[in-house]
Amino acid sequence: MGKIIAVTNQKGGVGKSTTVVNVAAYLGSRGFKVLCVDSDPQGNATTGFGISKKDVLFSTYNVLTGQVRIQDAAVETEFDNVSIIPATELLAGAEVELINAENRINRLKMQLLTIKNDYDYIFIDCPPALGMLTINALTAADTMIVPMLAEFYALEGLSQLVNTIKIVKSNHNPALDIEGILFTMYDSRLNVSADVVAEVEKYFPGKVFETKIPRNVRLSEAPSHGKPVMYYDKSSKGAESYELLCHELLGEPLELPQKKRRGIFTFKKKDSES
Ligand SMILES: Nc1ncnc2c1ncn2[C@@H]1O[C@H](COP(=O)(O)OP(=O)(O)O)[C@@H](O)[C@H]1O
Ligand SMILES: [Mg+2]
Repeated sequence: MGKIIAVTNQKGGVGKSTTVVNVAAYLGSRGFKVLCVDSDPQGNATTGFGISKKDVLFSTYNVLTGQVRIQDAAVETEFDNVSIIPATELLAGAEVELINAENRINRLKMQLLTIKNDYDYIFIDCPPALGMLTINALTAADTMIVPMLAEFYALEGLSQLVNTIKIVKSNHNPALDIEGILFTMYDSRLNVSADVVAEVEKYFPGKVFETKIPRNVRLSEAPSHGKPVMYYDKSSKGAESYELLCHELLGEPLELPQKKRRGIFTFKKKDSES
């Protein structure tokens, strides 16, 4: 039975879509069957996998409004073992259309239940808001990954996050668990980084991923090539850190396979370039 993981944070620009695309791609390359559900009208996970929005036939919008069965909306990406329910701007309409609809909270959950057995992992990329789309995702999810920046403002969002989890658990999904809080665009040289991590660990003891994702230019370039970073620059810090995160998710030792020794004439790239 597949595990459903919602990647969520009401803030935008914290690395949700980047996390979905890169974790899904790595797990797929390891042979796990993975489905991504793009539940953000911005469709960043969709384009991150190289799918052009004009080619989208059915999207998460059609699934939530009951126009298609979820298995008919899933499309294979060109990357090993990863399929996606894509999203386009149309999905924004679902926020409004669902407000007075029947079973509005359970729409995604009901659809996912019909295909949960076909996948090992299902990742839901949430929009930066706490509306119907996010509530549907959290209601359907077994666990959540919360990407976060190690900056002071992140702490201000924490109580809102705690509140949302409380509401969803008590009203819709008592079993919802936190898979982990993930620090992204992390700079270990800054004092504030360690301070924020320590503060978040107080709120969520044992729930902060040991793996931190550094700021890495390859991670921000890869989507413009329509590729997960491991298919764009496998030896980049970004690819390595998402691989480590997957090891942590899978309960494996936090180490990377030994890199092949490069010839002595190969110049090592600077950290900032790779
Ligand atoms: N670790 C990182 N290093 C550098 N850039 C990153 C990193 N993670 C994400 N980005 C970039 O930051 C922006 C926001 O990331 P994104 O994953 O789209 O956030 P969200 O989905 O939370 O809005 C994107 O342009 C993305 O390419
Ligand atoms: Mg996003």
